[in-house]
Parts: sequence; structure tokens; C-alpha cells
Amino acid sequence: MIEIRRQRTQHPEAKPKTEGLGFGRFLTDHVFIADHTAESGWTNARIVPKATENIDVAAGSVQYGLSLFEGLKAHRTSAGELRLFRPDAHARRMVEGSKRICMPAVDPELFLAAVKALVREEADWYPEVTGGALYVRPTLLATESFLGVRPSTKHMFNVMLSPVAHYYAKGENPLRLWAEKELVRAAPGGTGAIKTGGNYASSLLAAQRAQARGFDQVLWLDSHERRWLEEVGTMNLWVRIGDTAITPPLDGTILGGITRNSLLTMLREQGFKAEERRISLDEIAEADKRGDLLEIFGSGTAAVVSPVGELTWDGGSVKPKGGDLAKRLRKELEDLFAGRIEDKRGWMVPVP
Ligand code: COI
Repeated sequence: MIEIRRQRTQHPEAKPKTEGLGFGRFLTDHVFIADHTAESGWTNARIVPKATENIDVAAGSVQYGLSLFEGLKAHRTSAGELRLFRPDAHARRMVEGSKRICMPAVDPELFLAAVKALVREEADWYPEVTGGALYVRPTLLATESFLGVRPSTKHMFNVMLSPVAHYYAKGENPLRLWAEKELVRAAPGGTGAIKTGGNYASSLLAAQRAQARGFDQVLWLDSHERRWLEEVGTMNLWVRIGDTAITPPLDGTILGGITRNSLLTMLREQGFKAEERRISLDEIAEADKRGDLLEIFGSGTAAVVSPVGELTWDGGSVKPKGGDLAKRLRKELEDLFAGRIEDKRGWMVPVP
């Protein structure tokens, strides 16, 4: 049993209006923090007002990107119960990610206790808006003040919460994507498979360029041949050709999304053909010519399942014919989140 000290804020903020809530604009009043050193392990677990803690400007997290984060959601059922979606899978992913950038593992037990305690503490921040949730952002940061390049000797694990609505301002309207052939998100042997801040920093210029061309987001291609599809924006990618759903394999350059994994399970349970394999722009163009390119969509915690209405690249453009798979998967997940269907797989974890 992890003991968590609590200090309540003297200056609670007004809760945001649900209209225009957007994604990630507001943080709740409190954060969870625990400290780590090699000698003491994880200690000093606390829930404190969010302005209480500072990071040194010379910390490895600030200087060299020694940081790792997770993103999961707490949902409220129509009966009023708060539940987390697959928090254990997020905790395991964080342990795997920390190995790659030489940071200490956050014990899944600490991760779960922290997330549950903070969600419980801030339950009255839950946004009552369709598709809304309390977005949970666990973060692991190197905190030692030291400018040499080596693993840090001090770390902080913190959890913050944000009441959110839909991730994309366009809501469920189909995204228009530009396939980027110059800049890459990840290369074999790099850090594309983990949730570290640098991956997101390096994605911004491509997103800006896509937007300047009139598109909503980037479709990432492989670093070697620039023809194999990898991810879309910050989401995993899916292509439906005929009656088969295809998603690129987890070969080291792609983040192992918890939503991606859940969709694979759901599709296979329903007898829908779901393949994890490489898929190229050429294959997409050919499927389009045959009239078989039915759907393209992205999956992720923040945007859940987001349809793509157009994919354009230097050399071609396709508009999937349309289908109901993305919509059906999204609805099933939302029904599960809201407690409208039975949770047969034990994915929803109550926050007592
Ligand atoms: C997610 O879908 O969970 C993401 O990774 C997006 C997040 C970085 C805002």
C-alpha cells in the first residue's frame, strides 16, 4: 500500500465551461508527485497544488529531453462511476519506454495508485460534455541539475489531469492528410516506439507544413524509402481495403498504441480480418483504382478513432470510398467507456 500525503490548494480555480473546452487547455488544481534516487527508490508520494513544484532549468528533462509521458482517460458511466481505460497497459508501456532512455522504471503499482488517487481527488473536474473525459497525463522527468550528458541521478514522476472534449477541433469530421516525404518521425533503432517528448517536438514542423498546404495533419512515411505508411499525426494508422483492416506492424518505429491494440482485439473477436503488416502508398493507390479503398482512419487515446477523408502526396491523391468500420469501432469504444455495454475483457478499471 503506497502512502500518499495530501495538501489541498488554498486557491481553487473556477472549472472551465464545457463549451469550447477543447483538448488540454486546462489542468485541474492538483498534481501527483513522487521522487526517485538510486539510493531511496520512489519516495515522498504526494498530491499537492499544481504550482508548488518547480523543475531546475539545468535538469536533463529540460536540456536533453530526458522525459517520458503517458496519456490515458478516466470516463464516467451513466451510473456515475469513474473508470480508467486499460491503465495497466499504459503503466507497462511506460516501464518499457523508460529502459530506452535510461530512466528508472515507475512501478506499475505506483503508477496505478497515483492515477487513481488523483482522479478520485479531482472527480468534480469531470467535464459533462459528449465525448468528454478526464485526460490523465503521467510524466517521468529527469530532475538532476547537471549539464553533462549522462543518465540523471534524480527523477520525478508526476501525474496531471485535464478535463477534455474532442482532440481535433474538427470533431468527427474526416481529416485531410499530407504524406510527408522529406521530414521523418522515426527511424529504425531510434525512439519512435516510445512516448518521449522529442518525438513530438520533431513532428511539429511537418504538421505546420501540411497545414500551410491546406491539410489537417501529416501522414508519416518510413525513413528509408518514404513509401511505407507509419502513423498519422499523433495516432496509429488503419487502412481498410475491401473487408480487411490493415495497420502497420510494431517494428520499432511505431508507438504501440493501447487503442490500436484494443481495436485489433475487437476486430479479431468479431471475425473481421485484421492484419498487422506493412502497407505502401503504391498499394493504397492501386486499391483506390480498383475501388477497394474503403476507409483510412487513425486511432489513439486522445482522438479515439478519427476518419480520414483524403490522403495526398507528392505523386498522388486518394479519397477512400467510405464505410462504417471506423464509426462502428468508435461507437463500441464509446459505449464501453460510458458503461452502455458490458466490459467483457476487464478493460475498465474502477476508481474507488
Ligand atoms: C494520444 O492519442 O494519446 C496522443 O498521443 C496524443 C497526445 C500526445 C495529445
